[in-house]
Amino acid sequence: MNKFRLAGISGSLRQGSSNTAILRTLQASLPPEVEMTLLPLEGIPLYNQDLDGPNPPEAVREFKAAVESSDGVVMCSPEYNFGMPGVLKNAIDWASRPAFASPLKGKPVLVMTCSPAFTGGVRAQAQLRETLGGALSRVISRPQVVIAGVNAKIEGGRLTDPASLSFALEAVNDLLAEIGLLRAARTPAMQPAEG
Ligand SMILES: Cc1cc2nc3c(=O)[nH]c(=O)nc-3n(C[C@H](O)[C@H](O)[C@H](O)COP(=O)(O)O)c2cc1C
Repeated sequence: MNKFRLAGISGSLRQGSSNTAILRTLQASLPPEVEMTLLPLEGIPLYNQDLDGPNPPEAVREFKAAVESSDGVVMCSPEYNFGMPGVLKNAIDWASRPAFASPLKGKPVLVMTCSPAFTGGVRAQAQLRETLGGALSRVISRPQVVIAGVNAKIEGGRLTDPASLSFALEAVNDLLAEIGLLRAARTPAMQPAEG
């Protein structure tokens, strides 16, 4: 059976990040046929169209190649001032080029947000979905994973709230189902034998 290769992207650079903790918890909970690599955003410079093209900065090249070679992406992001963090928007901007042929075009992307607030980063999630639409990604359409009151749900760098974890894992399953559909669509239909 073909493995599923997922790329995890946290919208927070903070060492003790809840979003990164959620991705790490998912990573550790996946079945053997699914692997998720976390892509660091630290070294990605601010988007500059003058530097964009066939030879972008090395960190950008690596990031885009990792998105491209993945079967699907899981983004988990905080909300900063009612929107997505600049680091995440910046990374999406790089990965959205060249337009109509970018690593994000047609890529299945599962979006999650969390926050210590009871709103769970839902406004950032709405923004993320719209931006990924602009990049022509295949944003997974399902009940949104919005983890509210996250500070009480993370312990020792892991998501310990069983309900949140199982809801997030169901969402990953939906992402895998979408990847499966895409794979099936790419397989040539069987033709009846002649004669
Ligand atoms: C600049 C800034 C703006 C923030 N704005 C919001 C906000 O609009 N809504 C919200 O729910 N939390 C907001 N927060 C709180 C973040 O949700 C909180 O710091 C969260 O833990 C960050 O995610 P992390 O743990 O993955 O780093 C903000 C935090 C910062 C640093």
